[in-house]
Amino acid sequence: MIARLRRIKSTLIFGGTAAWGLLLVSCVMVSRTTMMAPPQIPGATFVGSADCAQCHEGITSNFHDATHANLMAEGENAKNVGCESCHGPGSIHSQQGGGAGSIVNPAKNPETCFQCHLDKRSEFAMPYSHPIDKVGCSDCHESHQGDAVVGGGTNLQGSNESCLKCHDAIRGPYVFEHEAMRDGCTSCHNPHGTVNAKMLKARNAAACLQCHNQQQTVSGQIMIGSREHTSFLTSGGTCWTAGCHEAVHGSHVNSSLRY
Ligand code: HEC
Ligand code: HEC
Ligand code: HEC
Ligand code: HEC
Ligand code: HEC
Ligand code: HEC
Ligand code: HEC
Repeated sequence: MIARLRRIKSTLIFGGTAAWGLLLVSCVMVSRTTMMAPPQIPGATFVGSADCAQCHEGITSNFHDATHANLMAEGENAKNVGCESCHGPGSIHSQQGGGAGSIVNPAKNPETCFQCHLDKRSEFAMPYSHPIDKVGCSDCHESHQGDAVVGGGTNLQGSNESCLKCHDAIRGPYVFEHEAMRDGCTSCHNPHGTVNAKMLKARNAAACLQCHNQQQTVSGQIMIGSREHTSFLTSGGTCWTAGCHEAVHGSHVNSSLRY
């Protein structure tokens, strides 16, 4: 458990209260960002995930294969992680059997996710990012079962689906497909946010050259694909601006991805 956490500690920070027991591993990583406390519910204490099962049987029974089920470590210290790591201490909610304000729902408030994934707070604060009040973590991530990245792992078409349900205009089929789409939207976009317009991972030719080799065969001549690109690359535009490959997701008229 600890070993697994260490593996990814560069992106994870755990809160520093006693309630976090075993997870108290990498507080030293705190640098630029303020550390968050676990979600607070005044007067409530942690009761452990088994308690939740009484009333939320469906969610609890599928939870074992969820990415975050790794947070359900064995032992006394560990009873505080699991359901309550995202939902906050559940004693009041559990005693009352529900009730407004008695439990945290991250669909309405991403703070609880940010407290461990601190870097995501800064990504969503980038100049170009998904509006977090309209597009929440749970629009793209599954918390209760399976892979936390919806359609993640090897299922790249599936991962595009999680974007296309809102960005349907980009869905093909195209007459001239751009094969890059098979590698997933995230080969060019960071879905959380970046410093570049349209949440692109790179603002210039670098976004494209990660896959398309640029070769200098004759001195002073730059080839991309089978075409000389020397003057195009020095014109100051990007590969996808006027006159070039504007139809970057796929084209109906031109195999070179133009409109
Ligand atoms: C005695 C039954 C009972 C227990 C035990 C219980 N819950 Fe609930 N829970 C409910 C009911 C009923 C609702 C729906 C009414 C409501 O939203 O308050 C609910 C709603 C919720 C919601 C949605 C709240 C919202 O604002 O959308 C979450 C999250 C939740 N429970 C998590 C938990 C967790 C985590 C535990 C264990 C710590 C737990 N529950 C234990 C009965 C229970
Ligand atoms: C990784 C964080 C995380 C963990 C761990 C987690 N949940 Fe949730 N839970 C969420 C998010 C996000 C939502 C809101 C969106 C959704 O339903 O996926 C939610 C919603 C809920 C709801 C409201 C259901 C609804 O349909 O609105 C209940 C009840 C709930 N969780 C119970 C649990 C229980 C029980 C556990 C432990 C077995 C648990 N959760 C573990 C993040 C988490
Ligand atoms: C208590 C700390 C904690 C909280 C709270 C938490 N996470 Fe995580 N999350 C982790 C850890 C640890 C892992 C790595 C699990 C593993 O790889 O075994 C992880 C993994 C993930 C991954 C998958 C990363 C990958 O590379 O596959 C996603 C996506 C994710 N979390 C999203 C969320 C979202 C969304 C929320 C809020 C609903 C949330 N997390 C809340 C600790 C947390
Ligand atoms: C618009 C969809 C979308 C939203 C909203 C979103 N994510 Fe993600 N997230 C993704 C995708 C897609 C990946 C996989 C990235 C990849 O494969 O390069 C990912 C990866 C991750 C990862 C693991 C890889 C990494 O970058 O560290 C974590 C952790 C994560 N997201 C947390 C969150 C949290 C926390 C929120 C809410 C504050 C959130 N995400 C909101 C789509 C989204
Ligand atoms: C729940 C709906 C939803 C999901 C899911 C979603 N988006 Fe978005 N996306 C939006 C909204 C809303 C905006 C903001 C639109 C605006 O500002 O006009 C946006 C904006 C964008 C933009 C910038 C558009 C622009 O014109 O600047 C890009 C790029 C983008 N999303 C890519 C993605 C990718 C990639 C995924 C999947 C990982 C994804 N989106 C998933 C709703 C969604
Ligand atoms: C090969 C790189 C690449 C891939 C893969 C890619 N995009 Fe884009 N996307 C771009 C570029 C470049 C722009 C900017 C186009 C412009 O400014 O005219 C863009 C723009 C966008 C926009 C803004 C609206 C628009 O069409 O101008 C959205 C939304 C978007 N992409 C979503 C997606 C989604 C969803 C996927 C996956 C299904 C995806 N993109 C895959 C490169 C890519
Ligand atoms: C994830 C890898 C990847 C990325 C990133 C990528 N491409 Fe592609 N692209 C491909 C593949 C694979 C093909 C099909 C094989 C080929 O023609 O090289 C292709 C084909 C093309 C073609 C058609 C070539 C032809 O004449 O048939 C153009 C034009 C193109 N890409 C432009 C771009 C632009 C512009 C960008 C940056 C916005 C970009 N690509 C980013 C993988 C990628």
